[in-house]
Formats: sequence, structure tokens, C-alpha cells
Amino acid sequence: MTEIFSMDENNINDGLLKKAGSIVREGGTVIFPTETVYGLGANALDANAVKKIFEAKGRPSDNPLIVHVADYDGILPLVSEVNDRAKALIKHFMPGPITIIMKRSEAIPDEVTAGLDTVGIRMPSHKIASRFIKLAGIPIAAPSANISGKPSPTRAEHVIHDMDGKVDAIIADGPSGVGVESTVVDVTGEIPMILRPGGITLEDLRSVLGRVEVDPAVLKKPSKNLVARAPGMKYKHYSPDAEVVIVSGPENAVAEKINELSKEDMAAGKKVAVLACYETKKLYDIVVIILGSRKDKLSISENLFDALRKLDDMGIDKAYAEAVDEEGLGLAIMNRLKKAAAYKIIRVN
Ligand code: TXA
Ligand code: MG
Repeated sequence: MTEIFSMDENNINDGLLKKAGSIVREGGTVIFPTETVYGLGANALDANAVKKIFEAKGRPSDNPLIVHVADYDGILPLVSEVNDRAKALIKHFMPGPITIIMKRSEAIPDEVTAGLDTVGIRMPSHKIASRFIKLAGIPIAAPSANISGKPSPTRAEHVIHDMDGKVDAIIADGPSGVGVESTVVDVTGEIPMILRPGGITLEDLRSVLGRVEVDPAVLKKPSKNLVARAPGMKYKHYSPDAEVVIVSGPENAVAEKINELSKEDMAAGKKVAVLACYETKKLYDIVVIILGSRKDKLSISENLFDALRKLDDMGIDKAYAEAVDEEGLGLAIMNRLKKAAAYKIIRVN
């Protein structure tokens, strides 16, 4: 049986969070909200507890988990060193939507790191997440709380849909603010490397560290010659049952192309929808799911995974998505969209 603890970020219930904390301390699993997506947490220092996360998600065991802490002191026992690059990122961006890959310490079981000599550390800024970790008094390993391969959960109903009956408790709050997962950045080498783009942008990182590179697997389809450095990025991901196709180019040409292609799909008996924006909605003569505003990428990232899940709820067979530019949060949005679309992109002029 899964216990549901409902609360609001602005009205935190310490009594329920203490209960949730004791569940993870005793080796159980608790789903909690963060500013990015909901996480499926267990005691990061307890190999048996961590195994329950992989079971609940159906996650391959060679995909490492990131470890969540409440404050700087929580990081130190988990890593063998905090180099200058890590220190700068911690100072500027923690707590917040970033995961820093550092050399691990002996405290962390192999089940968490999938045998790697590094560990991903994340300090959420979400008040419920932070308080929950603090009251639990232990570091919490947590992947996104979705069934492996599905879009990450950004609404309490998503986690209840995927995980009810598979975990001990769910802390249910409102929608996640950022809506895409944290930026994963590896600072163990000389040149910091983004392994997964997220809420803290490439531009943010460069303003603090100077040179920062993006793992090529973020932009292009991984292949035999291009292996993603974040193990999780190699798996099928963010996939609704619907076939997704991205269309990129000037607004009007994109809409024209989508209207044209969807006519053919509908003639073939398919149920079609388009993921579009407030500004472009009027250009379509098919079902539109609005992601947000073209002028505000955060509004798009916030709704992206919910929109992908809606496609399945609505029984859509084929969905077209408008591309966004890859500046700022756009890099993370396009990375997730490309994966959802299995890299199918049509370019128009
Ligand atoms: O926003 C987030 O990061 C959310 C919330 C719950 O904190 N968590 C999350 O975890 O997205 P997960 O497991 O779904 O994604 C973590 C990613 C995976 O792609 C994994 O392969 C990669 O980080 N990763 C974890 N540890 C790593 C390591 N030591 N080296 C390289 N990549 C690592
Ligand atoms: Mg995930």
C-alpha cells in the first residue's frame, strides 16, 4: 500500500515529512516533489533500499542514480574531493536544478553509481524536497519517479499513475516549476562537460566556469561511434506511445507543413495532434496541445512532459511538435523533444 502525503510548498507539514523521513531511514521508498521533476527516493547508503528503486521503475541496473542532499555538509561524506570547479558551481547554483558529477567516496554503494568511480550530487531548492532530506537525516538516491522510458513526472497525478502500489509513500504537491530534469555536469576533467542539459543553462555555466562543453550525445542521436557519457542518455526515453515528429523552421512554414502532413495521416485513419504555442495555435486546423509561450521557454519546459503524457491519455497516434531555438532552456527542451521523437526532425524554409 502506498501512503499519500498531500501538502503545499508554501504550507509544509513537518509531521508528515518526519513520517516520510522515517520510511526512507528504515529502507523504504518515498516519492517527493522537486523543482525539476518528482524523484523516487531511498536511502543512498543502503544497497537494499536502492535496489527497490530499480525494481519500482523497471530501470536497468547499469544506469547510476544521483544523490540528493539538503546542504553543503551533506556533500562532503559522499565525495573524495570537491575541486575548484565543483566549488564554484556549488556556490553559484546550489541549491537548484543542477547535478554535479564528482569523484565518489567509499560511503556510496556500487548499486547507486553502477560501479562508476564518480557520483552525481544534487541539492534541490524545492522547499519540500529540502526539508524532507533534512528531516530524513540521510542522503537520498533518487531518479525521476516515472516508469523507465516514459516522460518524467511533473504532476502528482503522473506519479500516482506510474507508481501507486510500487512505493511506500508519495509526497504530493503541485506541478514542478522547471519541468525538465536537472543539468548534469561533469567537473572531474579539466573541461567541464554537460552530460544532460537542464534548468541551469550552458550560458549560466559558462558565466561562472568559462569554458564548458556539451557532450555530443546531447545534440545528436547516440550511435556506435557516439556513446553518451551519462549512461541514462543512451536509453529510449520520454517516449509516449504516439509517434512524435519535430518540425523546425519559420512559424508559418512549420504550421503549413504540419497541416499538410496531418491531412495525410488523418486520411490514413490516424488520430493527430500538434504541440504548439499560444502564439501559433491559430495557425493549425488540427487538435492543438499548448506547451506555453514562445517568449517564455520556462512556460514550455514546465508543460512539456505533461503534454507528452496527454498524447497517450488522448489516444493520439501521431504528434507533430514545433521546434524551439536551442538558446538557454531551449537546449534542454529540444534534447527531450528529440528523444521523444526518436530524432525524427523535418526542416522547412
Ligand atoms: O532533476 C533531476 O535530476 C531529477 C530529480 C528527481 O532530482 N532526477 C533525475 O534522475 O533526473 P535520473 O536518474 O532520472 O537521471 C540522472 C541522469 C541519468 O541520465 C544518469 O545516467 C546520469 O544522470 N548519471 C547519474 N550518475 C552519473 C555519473 N556518476 N556519471 C555520469 N552520469 C550519471
Ligand atoms: Mg529519468
